[in-house]
Amino acid sequence: MTGETDHALRGDYSRMRPDYTVDQDWDAYTPEQHELWRRLYRRQMSLVPRYACREFQESLAAIDIAGAIPRFELVNRKLGSATHWQLVAVPGLLPDLMFFEHLANRRFPVTVWIREPAEFDYIVEPDIFHDFFGHVPMLFNPVFADYMQACGRGGLKAQALGAIEMLSRLYWYSVEFGLIETPQGPRAYGAGILSSGGEITYSVDSPDPNRIGFDLLRIMQTRYKIDTFQETYFVIRDFGELFEATAPDFTPYYEQLRGREPHAASAVLATDRVLHRGAHPARAA
Ligand SMILES: [Fe+2]
Repeated sequence: MTGETDHALRGDYSRMRPDYTVDQDWDAYTPEQHELWRRLYRRQMSLVPRYACREFQESLAAIDIAGAIPRFELVNRKLGSATHWQLVAVPGLLPDLMFFEHLANRRFPVTVWIREPAEFDYIVEPDIFHDFFGHVPMLFNPVFADYMQACGRGGLKAQALGAIEMLSRLYWYSVEFGLIETPQGPRAYGAGILSSGGEITYSVDSPDPNRIGFDLLRIMQTRYKIDTFQETYFVIRDFGELFEATAPDFTPYYEQLRGREPHAASAVLATDRVLHRGAHPARAA
């Protein structure tokens, strides 16, 4: 995940390679850190059957990560044969260009450090639990895996066109905070939701946020909140819809949207396909 930060980054960037990758150094994790992973995993697994999309649950069942912090090299064997993606270990947040460069080449950067026990419910930066538990299972889904690569390619192009903000909103409202329609109601596929003990229930059950049908241009001009639960979730019909949205060249879209005032995160427009109109602004995360 990429992101704007106004504080010193938490990871150790002193030993990284030019592409920001490091060795995972799995043996350096302490028993307490593995125990914290197990607690985080158990908490999310008490919620996943009710709130996560089927694709996430199926992939999660195929990788055995319940007992300890996962070894990237072991998961890479399964992931490589499933969708030709590979995980690379990184110290933490990456510059946008480097992050999208990895995605464009089917490499997913996963932060190596795990949060402190006191941060069980909330961390300022994404750690290994967010990056791995939230993102990696979806990389086993072939359509979503192709979408992630398209995001990477789109990010590189947007960077060159000065439109990274618009592409980042798409990434945010899909890869991080996306919902998908199912006959049982909306379910989560976004990693920011799936790795959160609070937002996973809020995003699906709460009457407070808006739930609006996926609309590429609408999303690219909608602000988002980074320090509260989302005020609006965009809901896809299926992963094909998501992938197809990235097929066109975005250059004319950026030209069309550039200079327009973005919509507030809480906005509901007359042109929206409103699945649920939110009752209240989002509370603090
Ligand atoms: Fe993320």
